[in-house]
Amino acid sequence: MKLRDTKRILISTVAALLGMGSLVVCSVTLAAESDAYSIARGGRLYDKWFEESPTAKTPEIAHPGYPESGKYKGNKGTDWRCKECHGWDYRGNEGAYAEGKHYTGFKGIGGMTGADPTSVVAVLKNQTHAMTASGLSEQDYHDLAMFVSQGQTRSDGFIDDKSKKVTGDTSAGQGYFETVCARCHGLDGKEDDQIPPLGKLANDNPWEVLHKIINGQPDEEMPALIAFGNQVAVDILAYLQTLPQE
Ligand code: HEC
Ligand code: HEC
Repeated sequence: MKLRDTKRILISTVAALLGMGSLVVCSVTLAAESDAYSIARGGRLYDKWFEESPTAKTPEIAHPGYPESGKYKGNKGTDWRCKECHGWDYRGNEGAYAEGKHYTGFKGIGGMTGADPTSVVAVLKNQTHAMTASGLSEQDYHDLAMFVSQGQTRSDGFIDDKSKKVTGDTSAGQGYFETVCARCHGLDGKEDDQIPPLGKLANDNPWEVLHKIINGQPDEEMPALIAFGNQVAVDILAYLQTLPQE
């Protein structure tokens, strides 16, 4: 076969492939994402919306609604994080942030559990929240509202408020941890030296770690286990409390 023929065959093959490619592209339309996806993404926005949202920027001014006396006023956007005013346990001034350096005195968001997402969006766009310059998209607001409405895991019953001890199945948790998390965090939870050992985090702030197991870490590869149900997350959390703390 002459070189020219080979070229012709090549060109027509490429053309056919390209044609097939565009056919495939045209015929696949993705359905809307699952509620689980939206809720977990909302959870990561609740954690740190200016990391998770591709359109939002880290606020450069202090949040006008954050107390003047608060420890995190104007601190690299911290005072704009939902969790900073409403807590990792979503209970605001009635939960873990009822005292200490994260105290703001603001109420939790439990009252809006089960609320219509559009009414939650209206609250997020009110004057108190001062989000007009945030850069959040309508999708971001929707996902945040889905989280507020359907994503708040109540911790009473498995995290003791005083001792912070978690009640869960540590041996099931070990199996989950070693097969899902250890790939990135190491079998001892200490692989990533940019963050404290997971054993320490889980004992210091079990609500934060639970939130991150269920929803993932803002703008990082870490998975969200929301679709496996709360018990899996609780068992992992209980196991994490047994890992080395330093
Ligand atoms: C600087 C503190 C602050 C930050 C940050 C903050 N909030 Fe609020 N939030 C408040 C205050 C104060 C209220 C109650 C008064 C109001 O809504 O005007 C409130 C009310 C709410 C309510 C209504 C609760 C109820 O039962 O009525 C929800 C839901 C809520 N916030 C969600 C969020 C979410 C989601 C974020 C992050 C995008 C956020 N908040 C960030 C201070 C804050
Ligand atoms: C694909 C890799 C990956 C997997 C799998 C993974 N993580 Fe992560 N995780 C990360 C990354 C990356 C970070 C951010 C670390 C940083 O900021 O340096 C993170 C952060 C965290 C944090 C927050 C630390 C902090 O101080 O902000 C916790 C807690 C955590 N992971 C627990 C877990 C648990 C428990 C599992 C299993 C359910 C898990 N991770 C699975 C990659 C992963």
